[in-house]
Amino acid sequence: MGNQVKASEQSMLDEVLDGLQKSPKQLPAKYFYDERGSELFEQITYLDEYYPTRTERLILQQNINEIADVVGPGAMLIELGSGSSSKTRFLLEKLPSLAAYVPVDISEEYLLKVVNQLRMEYPKISIIPVFADYTSSFELPNMSGSYQKQVVFFPGSTIGNFRPPMAQSFLDMLASVTDDQSGMLIGVDLKKDKAVLENAYNDEQGLTAQFNKNMLVRLNREFDANFDVDRFDHRAFYNEQKGRIEMHLVSREQQTVTVAGEEIDFEEGESIHTENSYKYSLDEFQELVSDWYSVEKIWTDDKNYFSLQYLTKK
Ligand code: TRP
Repeated sequence: MGNQVKASEQSMLDEVLDGLQKSPKQLPAKYFYDERGSELFEQITYLDEYYPTRTERLILQQNINEIADVVGPGAMLIELGSGSSSKTRFLLEKLPSLAAYVPVDISEEYLLKVVNQLRMEYPKISIIPVFADYTSSFELPNMSGSYQKQVVFFPGSTIGNFRPPMAQSFLDMLASVTDDQSGMLIGVDLKKDKAVLENAYNDEQGLTAQFNKNMLVRLNREFDANFDVDRFDHRAFYNEQKGRIEMHLVSREQQTVTVAGEEIDFEEGESIHTENSYKYSLDEFQELVSDWYSVEKIWTDDKNYFSLQYLTKK
């Protein structure tokens, strides 16, 4: 175990240094989610400006009967990402006779907390956590015969945080670790007015800025880096041509930062690209998944801000 932890720390450091030595600089978004990052993100989801979570929850609630119908009884519900939210609880309560709930998450600490809590709240549901980076291949618990259907729950438009070719290799991997008859309930954020999009990632309270900068705080702690977070600005904007929100950390001045003994130079105004959030039209999304999945059902809100979709494996 000890060696395994060291190996993963080493590979994280390699990825971090590799990204910071690129031009333009970048950092892998999955490292947002240490314990503090997960907490901050949870808070973002309650912001007025941040419409995705609340809209997705509403779509889920308003259509739960139809959703329960397409999922069917006795499903093994596999959630990708930390399943702490009210959406998860809602599904655990409303889906008929779940065979198991399998949350998959990279943050072991956070997942254990959540699982303990959910086990107390839902003593009758078998909860089987899988600690894994679901962006690379992972193994699902072997429960053959004890469930009707595997259904992947992938909310929050997290698919939009992958570049389209990455999204497709992820779908390819996912299709290979799930059964032939499996389905997927996926949240997909839709293209819309630029101001609405940009507001969602530039909240008044500055929580998204804190979330973005927390990546640097984490590097300071875990890799003995010396980022001064006050010398970086949060910047998020909609890149219309690429159909994505981009998040950056912009150096306010020329400076040199040390990360694990390596010196990283910044020009004034130079940015670290930390995140993308792609927005899709319904047609674009269908096209994206079409090699692996058919879109069986689409639910949206009345402003068409967000969609929840049920896909089945082809
Ligand atoms: N997938 C969501 C989105 O893109 C959540 C998310 C991922 C997010 N990274 C983020 C939200 C960074 C705010 C900031 O909107």
